[in-house]
Amino acid sequence: MKLFVDTGSVRDVEALAAIGILDGVTTNPSLLAKESGDYRQILKQICQIVKGPVSGEVVATDTAGMVREGRDLAGIDPYIVVKVPFTKDGVKACKTLSSEGTRVNVTLIFSATQAWLAAKAGASYVSPFVGRLDDIGATGMTVVREIVDIFDNSEYTTEVLVASVRSPIHVIEAARMGADVVTVPPAVIEQCFKHPLTDIGLERFLKDWEKAQGAKV
Ligand code: E4P
Repeated sequence: MKLFVDTGSVRDVEALAAIGILDGVTTNPSLLAKESGDYRQILKQICQIVKGPVSGEVVATDTAGMVREGRDLAGIDPYIVVKVPFTKDGVKACKTLSSEGTRVNVTLIFSATQAWLAAKAGASYVSPFVGRLDDIGATGMTVVREIVDIFDNSEYTTEVLVASVRSPIHVIEAARMGADVVTVPPAVIEQCFKHPLTDIGLERFLKDWEKAQGAKV
């Protein structure tokens, strides 16, 4: 399973790319609104750092506007994936942009039928939002399982990109279900690294080693 980071922060992308574990990045208007500077330059910088798929989202809501913005976003860098919302206009824009060879990530997916329709329109990625489904008392990962099953039984090459991830448990479940990609906020990636027993274990190893060196003198 590929790991994308869900952020608009160049610093976060730099830090994770330096570890060597990052396959791509997803942004959205809310994430980029938190950053200062021109969004096109931010996306360009992120592309140069990660050298993998970087989703940039349109803000138009009509097909013509989405296609226009999508073409403009795609012109920023060859690594850009154009993100469009799952609406009828968005699906139509996805069909046009994907027919032109632009990779499209259809976002705000909350059901398996939406994912199937996006795949039919040539989406390269579908983004089911698991955390937001959990928030309203549904089970986000159930939708992911349905989408993975549908795509496994079909000819679509669309990748399942699990989004709106809130905890390492979402990451583990996505991997176990066979999702292609998980996009994770930096804070949750940090949690994935951490285990108190690792810290305690390392401290003990180093103490024992130091003690033994002292005894040899
Ligand atoms: C996906 O690409 C979105 O940017 C993101 O995962 C949304 O997550 P949220 O529900 O935490 O805002």
